[in-house]
Amino acid sequence: MEKFIINGGNRLTGEVEISGAKNAAVAIIPATLLADSPCILENVPNINDVSIDLRILRELGAEVTVINNSTIRIDPRNIRDVAVPYELARSMRASYYFLGTLLSKFRHASVPMPGGCDLGDRPMDQHLKCFRALGSNYTIEHGIVELDADFLFGTQIYFDKVSVGATINAMLAAVKAEGLTILENSAKEPHIVDLANFLNSMGADIMGAGTDVIKIRGVSELHGATYSIIPDQIEAGTFMIAVAATKGDALIKNVIPKHLEPITSKLRKIGVVVMEYDDSVRVIGQDSYERITVKTMPHPGFPTDMQPQLAALLTLAKGTSIINEGIFDNRFRYVDELRRMGADISVDGNVAMIEGVSHLTGAPVKASDLRAGAALIIAGLSTNGTTEIEDIYHVERGYENMDEKLRKMGADIYKREIPANIRKAL
Ligand code: UD1
Repeated sequence: MEKFIINGGNRLTGEVEISGAKNAAVAIIPATLLADSPCILENVPNINDVSIDLRILRELGAEVTVINNSTIRIDPRNIRDVAVPYELARSMRASYYFLGTLLSKFRHASVPMPGGCDLGDRPMDQHLKCFRALGSNYTIEHGIVELDADFLFGTQIYFDKVSVGATINAMLAAVKAEGLTILENSAKEPHIVDLANFLNSMGADIMGAGTDVIKIRGVSELHGATYSIIPDQIEAGTFMIAVAATKGDALIKNVIPKHLEPITSKLRKIGVVVMEYDDSVRVIGQDSYERITVKTMPHPGFPTDMQPQLAALLTLAKGTSIINEGIFDNRFRYVDELRRMGADISVDGNVAMIEGVSHLTGAPVKASDLRAGAALIIAGLSTNGTTEIEDIYHVERGYENMDEKLRKMGADIYKREIPANIRKAL
């Protein structure tokens, strides 16, 4: 068990290379099992959620070869098993994509209910509604979702709620179904487009990804493909805010500036200077920032996955900022930890009011989930004191070598093992 120690106060400068997108990778990796020949994936982030996905594939019978730090080869031809092991499924949210892929390929799937960040109620009704509409039966017993279909046929599905996961699972399940599937009120996140592009490069026929109507004409076979995953918009946004919070000046490389627009526009509104280039953005932090009102929304709205990091920056803005969390019920668990550092935040339901303070102070804190951990890192970098962050395994699920990348930009951050006798007392 390790923690991050941050001696804050250093401006972030220089440059940072953004890794492949976590949320695209965790959909594309399970999708490789639909192919009848090997796939090569490039720009794969080296994070714990990806390691878990690869372990699941190996358990199912796939041959996974790591070619280099960001390239892997997956040969799915020997996959016979349709049961995902409990411990692996429980350690991440996106394990539920094996439901869509295994159902699509074998007409049967057995996947334990997923884990992932605790952000409040995270039902799966829209996923199950899609599987049933496509012709599958489902049962949930002893914590395991079982899907079973004789035949999958195209249909029209209207999502009652915009859901990234349900849109992706519906695409995966429908890609080899007989006939045309139309998904209405679909999510439009960049990783949905990335998955559609990957499936199309394998021979699928998917149109409209990135709009709210996706049309999928089922095909009987999918072949292997070589594909490069898009850069991680949330990792990029996290570094942009870290630069702003330290009044730094740095180039964020390997990004798609268009994907960052919802983040860039809010940062500019509070006074951060953001300059866009073809595949990078330069962020120039300022001495003071203006207040803002933000509501998190499905893409192209401001992403909920950037909400805690933005809140960390707004603790230092002038006046009262308001954040309305529009996606999840319980995404303010980091607030108590920021308060330990001197932040003035009150929460009422899904709304947080942040009174700007002149500075934060270092403190011992705990990451409650992945993006909460990122917010605490940003807060720690902005102070002049020492911050110790426990439970950093959350951060390592989704950020590749975050401490190393920050060190290269001038931050004083390192990992320290928590001694066993102290661990027991925690
Ligand atoms: C995905 C992302 C996560 C991000 C979230 C919202 C991955 C692996 N995770 O999570 O990082 O924070 O999108 O952008 O890509 N809902 C239902 N019924 C369902 C499914 C969802 O009511 O069947 C609700 C959820 O409770 C939530 C909202 O819909 O309130 C959006 O959730 P969803 O888009 O599905 O999030 P995830 O796919 O879990």
